[in-house]
Amino acid sequence: MSKLLIQGPSRLKGEIRVHGAKNSTLPLMAASLLCDSTCVLHNCPILSDVKTSEKILQHLGCRTGRSGSDVLIDPRGVEQSDIPEHLMREMRSSIVFLGAILSRMGRAELSFPGGCELGPRPIDLHLSALRKMGVTIQEDHGCLKCSAPEGLKGVQIAFSFPSVGATENVLLAACCAGGTTTITNAAREPEICDLADFLNCCGAKISGAGDSTIVIEGVKSLHGCEHEVIPDRIAAATYLAATAATGGSIILNHVVPEHLAPVLPLFEESGCRFAIHEKEIYMSAPSRLGRIKNVRTMPYPGFPTDAQAPMMAMAAVANGTSIFVENIFESRYKHVGELLRLGANIKVEGRVAVVEGVGRLSGAPVEAADLRGGAALVVAGLAAQGETLVSGVRHIDRGYECLEENLCLLGAQVKRLPD
Ligand code: UD1
Repeated sequence: MSKLLIQGPSRLKGEIRVHGAKNSTLPLMAASLLCDSTCVLHNCPILSDVKTSEKILQHLGCRTGRSGSDVLIDPRGVEQSDIPEHLMREMRSSIVFLGAILSRMGRAELSFPGGCELGPRPIDLHLSALRKMGVTIQEDHGCLKCSAPEGLKGVQIAFSFPSVGATENVLLAACCAGGTTTITNAAREPEICDLADFLNCCGAKISGAGDSTIVIEGVKSLHGCEHEVIPDRIAAATYLAATAATGGSIILNHVVPEHLAPVLPLFEESGCRFAIHEKEIYMSAPSRLGRIKNVRTMPYPGFPTDAQAPMMAMAAVANGTSIFVENIFESRYKHVGELLRLGANIKVEGRVAVVEGVGRLSGAPVEAADLRGGAALVVAGLAAQGETLVSGVRHIDRGYECLEENLCLLGAQVKRLPD
């Protein structure tokens, strides 16, 4: 397993282009299954989760190819309707293929995604919505056998929580269903809008994406299209956190500033200054950050849970006490124990973490247990005095393209040590 060796501290300074959003790319790749001709996705990041999605598509019978950041998917040869267990295990979010496979094949077989590093991740909302749409689901020894013998039908779906994945699955299942589907309390994340934009470009009739009520009128078929994946707002927030933690300055290119609206005010609160111009954000941080009073993770347009850990690494070196409340996932503080090794002062009680900023972190060996928690360790390592050796880098590679190259461009000293 490769490791990242960080020699800190360094003050990040420079300009980088933010890659395409992982959390958009995966559902978009699943969506290509609904089309009767080739799709081209531009701005697809090179990440292990994207590679896993390609393997799933190939297993199902798609032809796929990549040229730079363009991924081409030809779904005409699809004849399988199952996802092998090892691919389901590699990526919990492969559950988003369920709605697409069902729509295309009328049946689907995959293993239960089960729990993962963020605690239990049930899929009850996905399954109850699909059942309502006419899907029969047998749960058998960790395997889900799904079929829609009479086809998928449009219905009213009211989510008790605006789940991102469940909203995506229903969108995928409903596009070519018979009749109209209405989702209330739908997720409103930018990735939902990106998926709806892609599907509409393929001939779907979806209105209301980005609001909490989405209406999908079923159509007979969808055709392929070309689509540009939105920029990754979480990668952008991570680079901002790394820059802030090191007292540096950065220009982020190719971002949608509006998607970062839930996080930018917290950087401002800690003393960072911004200039925003179209697709570009300039941020400069003070040499010592002020505290961020409260960070409460919420569904969009609230503060994203995925930015909680990188932001906590930044709060760990701020002047004063910051309070974090994690409302989305049950077990999303695994990075805290590792931040303590670097000298941070953080106490966790249930969903609340109290971060007393310290004047200086000191480098140490740490281990990433999950993607965003791993990114937080990199942020902290950049601010820490001396050497930080981050292991478990495979988690980080799921979500950040060319992380060490980008950080080096910004003046950091980061090296990947091979196995
Ligand atoms: C997506 C993102 C992930 C992000 C999360 C919340 C992708 C690939 N992943 O994950 O990075 O952290 O949104 O913004 O896009 N829940 C249930 N039952 C369900 C579904 C969800 O109880 O059927 C719960 C989950 O356990 C969790 C919460 O709802 O506590 C949020 O989950 P959800 O919005 O579905 O997140 P994901 O789609 O898994």
